[in-house]
Amino acid sequence: MAGVECSGPAFRHGSETEMTATSPMPSPPVLETPRLVLRPLRRKDGPVIQHRFPHWEIVRHLSAGIPWPYPPDGAATHVDACLGEMARGEKAHWALIPRSGPADLIGMISLWPDDGVSRSQRGFWLAPEFHRRGLMMEAAERVTAYAFLDLGWPELWFTNAQENLGSRRIKEKQGARLVDLMIGRFVGGPGPQMVWHLLREDWMARMAA
Ligand SMILES: CC(C)(COP(=O)(O)OP(=O)(O)OC[C@H]1O[C@@H](n2cnc3c(N)ncnc32)[C@H](O)[C@@H]1OP(=O)(O)O)[C@@H](O)C(=O)NCCC(=O)NCCS
Repeated sequence: MAGVECSGPAFRHGSETEMTATSPMPSPPVLETPRLVLRPLRRKDGPVIQHRFPHWEIVRHLSAGIPWPYPPDGAATHVDACLGEMARGEKAHWALIPRSGPADLIGMISLWPDDGVSRSQRGFWLAPEFHRRGLMMEAAERVTAYAFLDLGWPELWFTNAQENLGSRRIKEKQGARLVDLMIGRFVGGPGPQMVWHLLREDWMARMAA
């Protein structure tokens, strides 16, 4: 499926790295940032995802593989799929929990190994009332550190709809290079899709600066 970065519940997604495409990912750890706790997704997150995720502002730039209108069991189906992917070591899925409350999830971020074809290794979404506070940048930086420093991956690939200014800005701020423009299929219809490449050495140089 195209547009994996632009995925969400429920989605199916599919270089050579130090962890190859066939290497299972370890069980994801809890990650912390100044304002967020990123903890592995749990089955009981289904109802809050069903409440927070299915909004046009969130889904319009996400992959057309997301069922829309979102069905009543959309989140439960998605969480089941995510738990299977984590159990098989295919992907890591984290719930974003703000330290200042509420106690439940306000968004998600996911990471998976490069398959050498999709050029996409991350997905994220945040409930609209929490947008524009720098929260996803914070989560993206923490997950990038996990990929480069803990998993030892040398590079990451990302995609987004060209019109998705917030997602695009996160890649720019992380120091990713725009390497391709293709046509993607999104919930809101087909349109230009940007492909980005971030090298560990570039990201580490930015962090050191
Ligand atoms: C994309 C998304 C995760 C961004 O989350 P966020 O927490 O609001 O982003 P941040 O606050 O960390 O912002 C990061 C940068 O993007 C900018 N930005 C965020 N939303 C923006 C928007 N709608 N338009 C223009 N710039 C935007 C911010 O200003 C910031 O840049 P700056 O530091 O130079 O000012 C959020 O808009 C979202 O969930 N969208 C729906 C799902 C989605 O599109 N996921 C990604 C699919 S590829």
